[in-house]
Amino acid sequence: MSMDATSGWSRRRFLVTSGAGALGVLVGGCGSDKKREAIEATNSAVVKRERQRRVAGSRRKVVDLVAGATSLDLAGRVVQTVGYGGAVPGPEIRVQAGDELEVRFRNELSTPTTIHWHGLAIRNDMDGVPAMTQPQIGPGKSFTYRFIVPDAGTYWFHPHMGLDLDRGLYAPIVVESPDESIDYDSEATLVFDDWLDGIDGATPEQTYQNLVAKGGMNMGGGGMGGGGMGGMDHEMGGTITESMTDFGDVAYSLHLVNGRPPEDQLTVEAAAGSRVRLRLVNAGSDTVYRFAIGGQRMTVTHLDGFPIEPVKVDTVRLSMGERVDVIVQPTSGVWPMQAVPEGKPGSAAAILRTSDSHATVTPTMGDRLAEHDRRLFDDTKAKATEAATLKGDFPGRSIELALTGGMSSYTWGINGRSFGDHRPLEVEHGERVQVVLRNNTMMVHPMHVHGHTFALSGQRGARKDTVLVYPGKAVSVDLLADNPGQWMLHCHNTYHLEAGMATELSYVQ
Ligand code: C2O
Ligand code: CU
Repeated sequence: MSMDATSGWSRRRFLVTSGAGALGVLVGGCGSDKKREAIEATNSAVVKRERQRRVAGSRRKVVDLVAGATSLDLAGRVVQTVGYGGAVPGPEIRVQAGDELEVRFRNELSTPTTIHWHGLAIRNDMDGVPAMTQPQIGPGKSFTYRFIVPDAGTYWFHPHMGLDLDRGLYAPIVVESPDESIDYDSEATLVFDDWLDGIDGATPEQTYQNLVAKGGMNMGGGGMGGGGMGGMDHEMGGTITESMTDFGDVAYSLHLVNGRPPEDQLTVEAAAGSRVRLRLVNAGSDTVYRFAIGGQRMTVTHLDGFPIEPVKVDTVRLSMGERVDVIVQPTSGVWPMQAVPEGKPGSAAAILRTSDSHATVTPTMGDRLAEHDRRLFDDTKAKATEAATLKGDFPGRSIELALTGGMSSYTWGINGRSFGDHRPLEVEHGERVQVVLRNNTMMVHPMHVHGHTFALSGQRGARKDTVLVYPGKAVSVDLLADNPGQWMLHCHNTYHLEAGMATELSYVQ
C-alpha cells in the first residue's frame, strides 16, 4: 500500500497496547496493558511545543511558492516535468534560525501534493505528510505553511506524495545563524539528482512498474544479479554488477547538479586560497553519490545540517536525503567537482574555478577522480560539536526496526510489514530511546526520520536525520522524543518508500 493511498483527512487513530510485539524488544519499558492515545498533529501539545521555540527578536519571513508543470532544458534536450517556481531545483529559501517562515504555497499541478521540510524539526502539523499531518493539497488549491525554523544548517524540501520525489519538485532551504561557529568567504549549494523523468518517455510510474515486474521474474533466482535494474536497462546494454544491486535498482540516464547535466556544467568561482563552503544535497531517488574535487581535499563541517568536529578527507558519500557541508580552499586553477553514483555508470559534475585562473575549462564527463579512491569520510567516527550533542538521559529502552524485503517480489517493509499495515513505533514525550536499524536485505537503505535527528551511537555521535544502513549491517542511534506528534520514519529510496518501507514514530500519552 502506498503512503498516499489514504486520502481522507480523518485518519484512524492507532490505539495499540504498549509493548506490541512487532516493535521489538522493550527493555525496562512499562509493561502495562493500558491503551494509550496517539498525540495527533492537531493536539494542543504541538502548539505548546511551538511556543517554546519562539525566541526574542525573531522575524517573519514570507515566501510565495508555486508547484507546477515546467520544462527543463538538459543541455538542449528539453523534457517536461514538474517543479517549484518553474525551475529545477526550485528557488532556494534562506531564513534565520528562530525566525518564523511563512510559505504561501499554491498547487498548480494536476495532482494533489504537500511539502515536507526535510530535516527541520518543526511543528508536526506543518510537516507535510498527507493523511498523517495534514490533508493533501488538491490541484488549484493553496496552503500556507507557517512554522518557526529551529536550527541552522543545510536542509531541503520536497513533496511527500508517491513518486513525485523522482521528478523536479525539490529545492534547498538554508538556515543561517550568527551562532554558527564556522568561518568561510563564500558558499555554494550543490544539489545532486538522478534524472529520468521525460527522457525517451520514461516516467517514475513506469519505472516503478518495471521494478515490480522484473522483481517477480527474478523470483527463485537466488540472489539479485540481473533483476535489479528498472526502467532503462534496455538502454544500458551492460551487465549489472554486484555493487549496482546493493546501492540502487534503477539505471538513470542522467545525473544532475542544480538541474544541469555534465554537458552543461555549473561553475563556482572563488578566490584562490579562500574558504569556500559547499552545501551538498542528495535529492536523488535511488542513487548514492560519492563526491570529490580534483586536486583538492575538503574539510567536512556539517552532517544533515548539524555541526561536527571538522574532519579532513578526499571524498564524501551522500545517500538520498543526506546533506554534507564541506570547506574547500582551492589552489589556483580550474577543478572538477564530481559526484559519481555508487555502483552505477554516469556522473554529476560541476566546476570550481579560482578567479585568478585563465585556464580553459575542461568539463569532466564521467571518469572518476583519483580523490574518489582516497580517504573516504566515515560518519560513524564523526563527533558532534559540544553544542550539537543530543541532550537527555541515556536511553531507557531499545527498539529494533528490521529492514525487510527484497527484489524478488519488490516488497519492502519494516519488521516484515509495509506501510498501512505497520505497527507504529510508540514513544512518550521526553524519553530518549535507542533505535537499532537492522538491515536484513541485500540493498542499502537511507533511513530518514521526520521532526527529529538521530544521534549516531558513541560519545557525542553525529546528529543525522538520514542514516545509511548497509546490507546485513545494523546501526544503533539514539532519539530524543522532544517534538510531539506523528512522524514518518522511512527509507528515502523513492521506490522503496512507494513499496511501503515506512513506519510511524508515534507520540502517545
Ligand atoms: Cu525527505 Cu519523508 O522525507
Ligand atoms: Cu530502501
